[in-house]
Amino acid sequence: MCGIIGIVSTNDVGKDMLTALEKMLYRGVDSSGMAVVSEGKILIRKGVGKVGEVDRAVRLRDLHGRVGIGHNRWATTGKVSQENAHPHTDCQGKIAVVHNGIVENFEELKSQLIRDGHRFASETDTEVIPHLIEQHLQRGFEEAVRKAFLSLRGRNAFVALHIDTPAVIAARKGSPLIVGVGKGEMYIASDITAFLDHTREVMYLDDDEMVVLQEHPVFRSISTGQQVEKRRVVIGWDAQDAEKGDYPHFLLKEIMEQKETIWRAINQKDEDILEIARTINSAPHTYFTGCGTAGKVCRAGEYLFSKIAGKHVDVTVASEFPNFEHLLNDQSLLIAISQSGETADVLEAIERAKKRGTRVLSLVNVEGSSLDRLSDTSVLLKAGPEKAVASTKATTAQLALVTLLAYATAGKLRQGKSLLFDVAGEVNDLLNPRYEERVRSLAKRIYKSPNIFIIGRGANFPIAQEAAIKIMEVSYIHAQGFAGGELKHGPLALITPGTPCIVLVANDELKEGILVNAQEIKARGGLVIGISPQNHSVFDEWIRVPDAGDASPIVNLIPIQLLAYQLGLLRKTDVDMPRNLSKSVTVK
Ligand code: M6R
Repeated sequence: MCGIIGIVSTNDVGKDMLTALEKMLYRGVDSSGMAVVSEGKILIRKGVGKVGEVDRAVRLRDLHGRVGIGHNRWATTGKVSQENAHPHTDCQGKIAVVHNGIVENFEELKSQLIRDGHRFASETDTEVIPHLIEQHLQRGFEEAVRKAFLSLRGRNAFVALHIDTPAVIAARKGSPLIVGVGKGEMYIASDITAFLDHTREVMYLDDDEMVVLQEHPVFRSISTGQQVEKRRVVIGWDAQDAEKGDYPHFLLKEIMEQKETIWRAINQKDEDILEIARTINSAPHTYFTGCGTAGKVCRAGEYLFSKIAGKHVDVTVASEFPNFEHLLNDQSLLIAISQSGETADVLEAIERAKKRGTRVLSLVNVEGSSLDRLSDTSVLLKAGPEKAVASTKATTAQLALVTLLAYATAGKLRQGKSLLFDVAGEVNDLLNPRYEERVRSLAKRIYKSPNIFIIGRGANFPIAQEAAIKIMEVSYIHAQGFAGGELKHGPLALITPGTPCIVLVANDELKEGILVNAQEIKARGGLVIGISPQNHSVFDEWIRVPDAGDASPIVNLIPIQLLAYQLGLLRKTDVDMPRNLSKSVTVK
């Protein structure tokens, strides 16, 4: 979703704001803009397109000042247009605001503001914010921001500047904002990567808090106005981790990083994993929740816990959680899985669960994210920054941890660790140039197909669904994943001669069944692509994976990720930033 930045400096902020917006491009963007205070005026430049295009069109880089705000918009309310791009201002042009989130009551607020004589220049919900601040300005800028924020409903974060104030003020509820403490320069951004080039020292703005960003930032509770003390935290990522290096795309870099990230994910302290296993074993009900790809990992967890630990866990995608929340109580355990730790539906699910006294454990990649901080316990995935919209290394890290937890819950932590360390080594060997070439040749054979189907059984059924997400989002080919046994109950009607069907095989008791399903596809003329430890006569194409036992979901996913990447390249999509999608889905 939208990326926002505010900088207060002893030097010119223009260049650093532009860089920060470029670093946050991966969150998804359709228009960009910046505002600075300069010689007693607020100067604003903005336009449609990614920040580089906007810069070429309106010279963002020529904005000079010591206080500035910037924005990458991912449109929600109001079409993609120059007028709707942020920053937005009040009637006098003395206040400018950039915003992430959705003001749920904006229509009501806008009607009242218009009745009060305010004039609007855009269709956005955001524009009510500077007008609300203007409405309260006689109380001073800081208090006006606080009052304005109290009028908003929904999950919102904004950063505002005022023509006469040498600071920016930010406020949040729901959408993330993090303060970066630099040398002579203070930052506030939706994302650590925006300022990681300058500092790893951060301070977290929590829900219902605002900060006046100046040489020494002052935090306050929005509801009481009281000052809040904050700790400075040094985060473990460095600027290099968030760069492409020699890779042409973040997606390829992140796929390749799985040589190490699976190992890092499971390299957790035994006591911590055993403590979680005890919690799972003592909870009468354990629920898993997540969205998109992380939701598929939850679903794989259901199979893995059943098979490895003989334990039933319930799974619900986070957006559907309200339908089941009444089943949770203070004895239940909710395990939330997320790369970003900022997905609005996931955060809302855990807030609802916590209100019921339910204990929340999270498996999350971004240290200090809202999910990390709101959970009773969190286990960091340690995958490093994931910038491609399509999740890869965070997904396999999640799968590895869920598998490890299932083993620990079964009282077999050692066995689980040993299996997963072996798998990490095998993935390291697998990701070599010859393997990439093999997947590329398969992609060349199927990239013009309008549909690709994927089937799996057991834990490989949700992996088939995840494979479909990966292929769709990276290549824009319609893809669907099914349980192998469900084919003949409907989807077989879609198989025509040459339709590519990927069959995910594990060397286990389900192998025979999935190979029967492969025969059903073959009999209808489908092109059968086996992802399997062994070749089989039914396969038209075979991509080898290691024989990984219960960790087969991890190894089966890796060639799919490479395939999605190659299909995207052949179809000339934006593999790092697919159309219409955002890396961090901070609105519901
Ligand atoms: O940051 P999260 O893991 O909570 O994100 C959840 C989904 O938005 C995410 O997995 C999405 O489906 C990805 N684009 C998948 O590649």
